[in-house]
Amino acid sequence: MKPKRIVVLISGGGSNLAALLTAAADQDYGAQVVAVGADRPSATGLQLAADVGVPTFVCRLKDHPERSDWDAALTAEVAAHEPDLVISAGFLKLVGPQFLAAFGGRYLNTHNSLLPAFPGIHGPRDALEYGVKVAGATLFVVDEGVDTGVIIAQTAVPVLDEDTEETLTERIKVAERAQLVDYTGRLAREGWRVQGRRVLIG
Ligand code: GRF
Repeated sequence: MKPKRIVVLISGGGSNLAALLTAAADQDYGAQVVAVGADRPSATGLQLAADVGVPTFVCRLKDHPERSDWDAALTAEVAAHEPDLVISAGFLKLVGPQFLAAFGGRYLNTHNSLLPAFPGIHGPRDALEYGVKVAGATLFVVDEGVDTGVIIAQTAVPVLDEDTEETLTERIKVAERAQLVDYTGRLAREGWRVQGRRVLIG
């Protein structure tokens, strides 16, 4: 079977990207990372991609007069790599309508909370402040909302009494990376369908 083509979008260190690159090096994984894009040149994960010969691009919001221009530019950059799947792995921008028109239904995001609890950019901090005893990560299909799309997979980790935002964030990231790798491979190899809000793989 031809491996599915994945474009990964990042804003930061790219530990999720690194896990995907490692997994995709195996022929049997079912997917290959064909490009990595970022919204800022300081995203250090870009170097991880460059190190293994994967093309990279940067598409900055501030280089475009309107957000819709940025949306169009990002859509074009991603489309040029003809992806089957696009994955936001710590990409800290909400994409716009043009992007969703092109990649809706196959644009996935990994978020560091058990949605629908604690959407937004401070998932672990919000979970800790709320006092929940179980936290985790959610892989979902992006829609027009903020962290509202249909859920592909969730993984839970305990919240410990001695946790700080940093330690909880790190514990979630370990589980989150494993989930991302596992489910991206499964989606690539087996396909999926959506019934209502339920995502069924295979
Ligand atoms: C992930 O935990 C993701 O849920 C959050 O940012 C983190 C990205 O980390 N939005 P990395 O850049 O993949 O290391």
